[in-house]
Order: sequence, then structure tokens, then C-alpha cells
Amino acid sequence: MTGSGTPAISRPEAMEPLFLRAARGEETESTPIWIMRQAGRYLPEYRRVREQVDFLTLCKTPELALEVTLQPIRRFGFDAAILFSDILIPAEAMGVEVAFTPSPHITPAVRSEAAVRALRRPDPMVETGFVMETVRLLRRELPPTVALIGFAGAPFTMAAYMVEGESSKNHLVLKELMFRESLVFHALMEKLSLVVIDYLNAQIEAGVQAVQLFDTWAGLLSPRDYAEYVQPHVRRIVETVGRRGVPVILYGNGAGGLLELMDETGPDVLGLDWRVDIRDVRRRLGRTRPLQGNLDPAVLYAPVDVIRERARGILEDAGTAHIFNLGHGITPDTPVEGVAELVRFVHEESRRLRTVPDQAR
Ligand code: CP3
Repeated sequence: MTGSGTPAISRPEAMEPLFLRAARGEETESTPIWIMRQAGRYLPEYRRVREQVDFLTLCKTPELALEVTLQPIRRFGFDAAILFSDILIPAEAMGVEVAFTPSPHITPAVRSEAAVRALRRPDPMVETGFVMETVRLLRRELPPTVALIGFAGAPFTMAAYMVEGESSKNHLVLKELMFRESLVFHALMEKLSLVVIDYLNAQIEAGVQAVQLFDTWAGLLSPRDYAEYVQPHVRRIVETVGRRGVPVILYGNGAGGLLELMDETGPDVLGLDWRVDIRDVRRRLGRTRPLQGNLDPAVLYAPVDVIRERARGILEDAGTAHIFNLGHGITPDTPVEGVAELVRFVHEESRRLRTVPDQAR
């Protein structure tokens, strides 16, 4: 392409995707949107694929994982695609058995020093090579305007499943290990952190353009315990992976009381659930860098005028350093019509709000 006249930078198709520019904190012409779990059972085309194969086979078959990752992009025009996989795929590569029924089950549960020691640190290119292949296929197939997000579970959320062995209500087995055998707990967190770093670096090498760390269960902890047991590990991951030059998004659920501590770990983008007010978060953290979120997924069951009204509120509160998302994953029986309207509305309304002076709104 060299010597062809106009410099690459001036061609619109050479511009970075909207999502990436927003994630880096640049001013953008509108607010990008994607939603957590955007590929999944609420889509009839996803259910058709799932009639043929179970969930783990789907994750491990790059052509099928490619197809379901693209489904919500084709249907709704999201600004980013998220690699189709699961946070427990690397856990399997560490040597435990993982099953989805559909909720996750891990055998044997990891509850002792010997069990932590037995966990392997896999080579992500080899033992999760199917993930890297899916990433390569996606980069080939996605339109250049759509960014590709890779992800991993944060170590505490992975530990929550690996220690409990399944979904849990109060996570007392996990907390008992944490409080009674904190050295074993930290050893597990350290091993998981190394695995997560290797895994995210491999995704970046394969072509993901941003990464999200999902700390779905961080909200189980008091700020003091988060600071002691989790924050050092998350900070290490965010710093190490961040050096690769791709934006890092840190998301916690039910973590409203931990946002200062999460912010201190240095993510480019901080993901919020719907239980917090975005203006309030900006004030508390003094954060001008991008926030992501935070519509209650249940709003998608409302009539479209309610969806629009709630989305507008978030756009007004968030201002420009913002990536629109739900506050947690979309639920399996969400009506698809509301999603289509949400995407259309966020693009149009965010563009309009940038042209209207504050006082006139
Ligand atoms: O967001 C996306 O579209 C990408 C794919 C993705 C999945 N899981 C697919 C999936 C991502 C990013 C995840 C992350 C994940 N997995 C998290 C963190 C985010 C969150 O939602 O809190 C967690 C905690 C898990 C663990 C997990 N995997 C659970 C609790 C379940 C059961 C969910 C349920 O609704 O029954 C899964 C299975 C799973 N992961 C499904 C999908 C589409 C459903 C599988 C199916 O088709 O039956």
C-alpha cells in the first residue's frame, strides 16, 4: 500500500473502531455500545446452533464460536464483538473437570494446598488453541469498524467456582478458605493470576483489540477484604496486560462499595453494574476516564419508551467518556426487539446530545 498517494490516516476506513477510540479515552462522535453476553440464548439463531452441539463443544469449535460471536453483530450492529467462550475454559486447562448443566460444575473442587499445587499453568496457545483460532477467524471476518474484545475471569471469580465446585449462594466454602487458610487462598489467586495473564496475552497476540476482566463475584467482599485478598492480584493483571497496549476493562458486579479500590488497579475502562449512579461514581472517584455500563438488564423487558427513557438518563449522566452496556449479562428470555431499539437509540441520541449545549437539554 506504500506510495499509493494519500496517507493511510486520512482514509475513513483506516480509522480505529469507535469502541476502541472511546476505550482509550478519546472524544468520539457518538457513544459505542455492546452488551455482556450479547451472544446467547435470547437469540433464536444461537438456540438453533445449540440444538446441534452442547455449550463446551460450541466453545471448542472455532467455526461455530465464530458464527455465534457474529450473530449479534449482524443482527444489531454493536460496536464491539466479544469472543465467544467462557471464563471457566482456562480452569479446565489447569486440570479440573468443567461441566455446564447449564450452571457450571467443577470436579474436583479445589480446597487444599495439595489441590492448588496440582493445578497446572497451561500453555494457552496449546491447551486453549481453539480460543486463539477463534480470535484469528474473527479478526478476518469482522468488519473493520467493529472491535474484538477478549476476556478472562478475574482470579477471585474463577476461584469462587473452583473452590465451591458450583454456583453458590453465600460462598462460605470460599470465604472459609480465604479466612482460615489465607496462604493457600493467596497461592490459588497467584496461580490463577499467572494463568489469566498468559491467557490474555495469548488472546492479544492472536488479535483481540481490548480485554475485559470479569469479576462477577467481587461484590461478595467488604472493601477491607477486597483490598487484602483480591486487589493486589487484579492490579498485577491489569498492569501486566495493560503494557501490551490494548485497553483493559475491569468489571465487577455488586461492587459499588469497591469502585475506588478497583479504580486504583489502573484499568482504562471501569465497568459498572446498574446499582450505582454514574454521576455519583465520577464524583466519588474523580474519574474522567471512560466508564462502561450500566443499564439494568431487566429494563429490556420494558416497553420501548421506557427503554429509551432509561438509556437517555444514562447517556446524560455519563457524558462522553462512556461505553454503553448493561450492568450485567443479558438474560436468556429477553425480547430481541428491545435490544435492536436500544442500539439504534444509543447511537442516535448520543450523537444528538453531543451537538446540544448542556443548558438546552
Ligand atoms: O458475552 C458474551 O457474549 C461472550 C461469551 C461469555 C459467556 N460467558 C458465554 C456463556 C462470557 C463473556 C461469559 C463470562 C462468564 N461465564 C461469567 C462472567 C460474566 C457474568 O455473566 O457474570 C461467568 C460468571 C461465567 C460462568 C458461567 N458460564 C455461568 C454462571 C453460566 C451459566 C449461565 C446460565 O445462564 O445458565 C455459564 C454458561 C454460559 N456462558 C452460557 C453462555 C452463552 C450459557 C450456555 C448455554 O448456551 O447453555
